[in-house]
Amino acid sequence: MKTIAVLTSGGDAPGMNAAIRSVVRTACENNMRVLGIRRGFNGLMAGDMYEMNIRSVSDIIHRGGTILYSARSARFNSEEGLKDAIDVCKANSIEGIVVIGGDGSFRGARDLSLRGIPCVGVPGTIDNDIACSDYTIGYDTALNTIMDMVDRIRDTTESHDRCSVIEVMGRRAGYLALNSGIAVGATTILIPEVEFNVERDVIERMRRTQKTGKKHFIIMVAEGVAEAMNSQGICGVNELAKLIEARTGVETRATVLGHVQRGGSPSVKDRVAASQMGYAATLLLKEGKGNRVIAMRKEEIVDYDIYEALNMQKSVDLGLLKTALEISI
Ligand code: F6P
Repeated sequence: MKTIAVLTSGGDAPGMNAAIRSVVRTACENNMRVLGIRRGFNGLMAGDMYEMNIRSVSDIIHRGGTILYSARSARFNSEEGLKDAIDVCKANSIEGIVVIGGDGSFRGARDLSLRGIPCVGVPGTIDNDIACSDYTIGYDTALNTIMDMVDRIRDTTESHDRCSVIEVMGRRAGYLALNSGIAVGATTILIPEVEFNVERDVIERMRRTQKTGKKHFIIMVAEGVAEAMNSQGICGVNELAKLIEARTGVETRATVLGHVQRGGSPSVKDRVAASQMGYAATLLLKEGKGNRVIAMRKEEIVDYDIYEALNMQKSVDLGLLKTALEISI
């Protein structure tokens, strides 16, 4: 390929800039022209792009967010949207695209590949919910951000003998809640992958630990459990906090960590993974290969067919949840 493009799509994640840097530099080193598309598939449909060179990506490896901006595009899912995107690729001689994002973005990459524009996906999302990959860019930084934030909340929770209910992101997955939950010593961790009962798994657990003299509590809740909580008559973490206070007598506050989890300078792990994945994706395009997704399996960088990748399943480590619950008493 002589000309490739790169875009970031979906929720931004720390490390996306390191991935862009890697794509651009690898392309330049391999004598390919590289275009940076702004605002994901929206920018592709609109032809919003610019030519990048090795210096366009200087001083970005440590920056959160994405210099190419990001978006979720509903229109791209339509035939008209795809047609516009393909016309733009043809007009700009784009022969392949590196798509950095989550599984929604990979579906877009698959649709483009199917219509003759080879794409390679790079997993970038704080949620770590890409089935084919053990790891997604941004996950480690988000975990560390959550841990730092909850450590702060813990200071005030402890000072007031309170309980703090903390909701973390993750969409329909519990990886962020589970791994940060064990790291902060949460009394209970509620994740969508594991059935729970608030009375048994929150209230009774707290009562049991109260008897051992514990006076402050962290309850970690994945945003993806909203439906399961609703079915138990609890609408959101504020209601959960009220219920805990009423049933245990422990003053309780709820905190929704929100978008603070998506920002910040990427960790070492995210910078390294992003650099490796961006490199591998660009080399695949150089070889003329498309319709692939880069993944990390047992610390190795591998790639899969997008169809295969989108049909894979991944599960949380139930042993980790068991460990967390057994030692957080
Ligand atoms: O996929 C990343 C993520 O941060 C999810 O954890 C969360 O559910 C969602 O994006 C939030 O999206 P938005 O920034 O569009 O509100």
